[in-house]
Amino acid sequence: MKMKAAVMTGLGAPLEIQQVELAPPKANEVLVKIAATGVCHSDLNAVQDPSTPFPTILGHEGAGTVVEVGPNVRTVKPGDKVALSWVPYCGTCEFCVTGAIHLCESAFGPMFNGTLLDGTSRLSKDGLPLFHNSLLSTFAEYAVVPDMSCVKLPDAMPLAQASLIGCGVATGYGAAVNAAKVTPGSTVAVFGIGGVGVNAIQGARIAGASKIIACDMKPANLEIAKQFGATHTVNVSEGDAPELIRAITNGFGVHYAIDCSGHTAATTNAWNATRKGGTIVVVGAFHPEMLLSLPAGGFHRVGKVIKGSFYGDTQPYRDFPKIAELYMDGKFMLDELVISRVSLEEINQAFDSFHDCNCANVGRSVIDFQKEPVQNREYHPEFI
Ligand SMILES: NC(=O)c1ccc[n+]([C@@H]2O[C@H](COP(=O)([O-])OP(=O)(O)OC[C@H]3O[C@@H](n4cnc5c(N)ncnc54)[C@H](O)[C@@H]3O)[C@@H](O)[C@H]2O)c1
Ligand SMILES: [Zn+2]
Ligand SMILES: [Zn+2]
Repeated sequence: MKMKAAVMTGLGAPLEIQQVELAPPKANEVLVKIAATGVCHSDLNAVQDPSTPFPTILGHEGAGTVVEVGPNVRTVKPGDKVALSWVPYCGTCEFCVTGAIHLCESAFGPMFNGTLLDGTSRLSKDGLPLFHNSLLSTFAEYAVVPDMSCVKLPDAMPLAQASLIGCGVATGYGAAVNAAKVTPGSTVAVFGIGGVGVNAIQGARIAGASKIIACDMKPANLEIAKQFGATHTVNVSEGDAPELIRAITNGFGVHYAIDCSGHTAATTNAWNATRKGGTIVVVGAFHPEMLLSLPAGGFHRVGKVIKGSFYGDTQPYRDFPKIAELYMDGKFMLDELVISRVSLEEINQAFDSFHDCNCANVGRSVIDFQKEPVQNREYHPEFI
């Protein structure tokens, strides 16, 4: 079939709206009509990353409706509303069988090579193949994706909000709930209050943290963080952030620090702001040439754990429906994360907003193909 897509045609170049070809789904693949797709900072990273194979169709936060299923697909059927996960998993590799499905060995190769799981592409233009991105390529009217990327959601779930679950929401929520394993009454600092960090705040809130300290250098983002559950804010450009955080936490530092900034200076701050025995979870993606430096003195005495978290250690079939249910029950904020709804033709404006330091980036610009009526839930303030 022919469809409209935003194509990355060159390193650092604006995306081009083109007519491209999409082949039908093969075994274990699903054709999805994309209803909405969020523009993530990782898409901007991909445009600027020399290792991104192109021409490609980016986009890895999407939701839509199943149109057609290939052979062997048992998890979804035409008409189902789905949120897409960019980490499908095989269930049989060494990582899957030990519970780390977000690290599935079968998904990593195709993810970085720009294909689907069988090593080939369903996308082409003028007979020449286009690369997939994150096994999804949602900056297009339709996508052929692995069946394990399709997570069925309730019919009542609005799709713009659902599209955000698959990346920034799951990653941030999962960083707090799955990776840090925040416990009730504990203290948490989140560094980098963007589309991911704000959901780490929500995850920490839902896990029952007593103090949640939002840390960023953008006053507007810190202000917004309070609406999502931050109890305190620290502007990292206005003083020694670890010292300010220790002052809020009886001099000890937080139990958990979650770095969602993508900047190593924040990771060092996160380490220094964490108490003995605490846990630091790094979600931000660093540029490959960066080196992370942590204080060596006393390293052995403080018993801290620092870990990277890919996709918030998410298990999509467990976590996506749970987040959707929390949203429908008024306990998880998604409406406020849709900061603008744009057409596919306006996609480069959404990318530009990442460079605009005056543009609030707590949430996502969403490419809304269906122009569904805006639905906003009522929140129960007792949960927030
Ligand atoms: N681990 C994963 O699987 C995964 C998934 C999605 C995104 N990411 C990465 O997570 C990061 C966050 O993504 P996003 O979409 O929320 O980005 P974003 O640009 O919306 O937010 C990043 C925030 O960090 C703040 N910041 C920058 N330097 C800081 C510092 N030194 N201290 C505190 N705050 C600082 C910025 O002001 C900004 O508000 C990116 O690096 C992205 O590539 C990782
Ligand atoms: Zn993303
Ligand atoms: Zn696997």
